Amino acid sequence: PLKAFIFDLDGVITDTAEYHFLAWKALAEDLGITFTREDNEELKGVSRMDSLEKILELGGRTGDFSAVEKEALAEKKNEHYLTLIQDITPADLLPAIKELIADIKAKGLKLGLASASKNAFTVMDSLGMKSEFDIIVDAKTVVNGKPHPEVFLRAAEMLGVEPEACIGVEDAAAGVQAIKSAGMFAVAVGPKESFENADLVYASTAELSFDKILEVYNG
Ligand code: BG6
Ligand code: MG
Repeated sequence: PLKAFIFDLDGVITDTAEYHFLAWKALAEDLGITFTREDNEELKGVSRMDSLEKILELGGRTGDFSAVEKEALAEKKNEHYLTLIQDITPADLLPAIKELIADIKAKGLKLGLASASKNAFTVMDSLGMKSEFDIIVDAKTVVNGKPHPEVFLRAAEMLGVEPEACIGVEDAAAGVQAIKSAGMFAVAVGPKESFENADLVYASTAELSFDKILEVYNG
């Protein structure tokens, strides 16, 4: 039986996926690299340094920077991102998330966060969600980024539940891959065609329904 929900943060609980996009786009433009929303889809759920590498690759500029310079570029993006998230409040929860979390808790299920972001605790705090979750795993404590299952497996382990008893919720292709590799049930938020391996896909968080998810999970 189902014991826990494990959520991704950026793009699921709040719209920070948009802020990551804007900050990367500004950095790319500084470097003379064209970076579109479509390009950004590939970066969702991907770590900061891996995202930078992908953008440099896109612009054919991989060989142009030393490791130290790349660190500085990633730091610059993060500084911009931090200014974009500074005014986040509990009002910035995406539609239906508050209700879904309340349903999960009312049913006595556990609640975890599995984020690829090093800013996860800051954002969760601003949202007033830090103490609502039983556990939070962020990018600071895992070795392998999504699509590797490590962050979801660690979350399940910390919650004391087996992966099969967990439902993961994601907006990134890399994230859904991580959930499935962890042996969990995957709920995806976004365009159906992006998530062939998800167990359930919702176009937006507004459509998330606890009862429907449970029905499909229970088969
Ligand atoms: C993920 C986002 O949650 O975190 C990515 O989907 C982001 O877009 C990654 O690059 C790393 O975030 P941060 O805050 O550590 O730079
Ligand atoms: Mg995400």
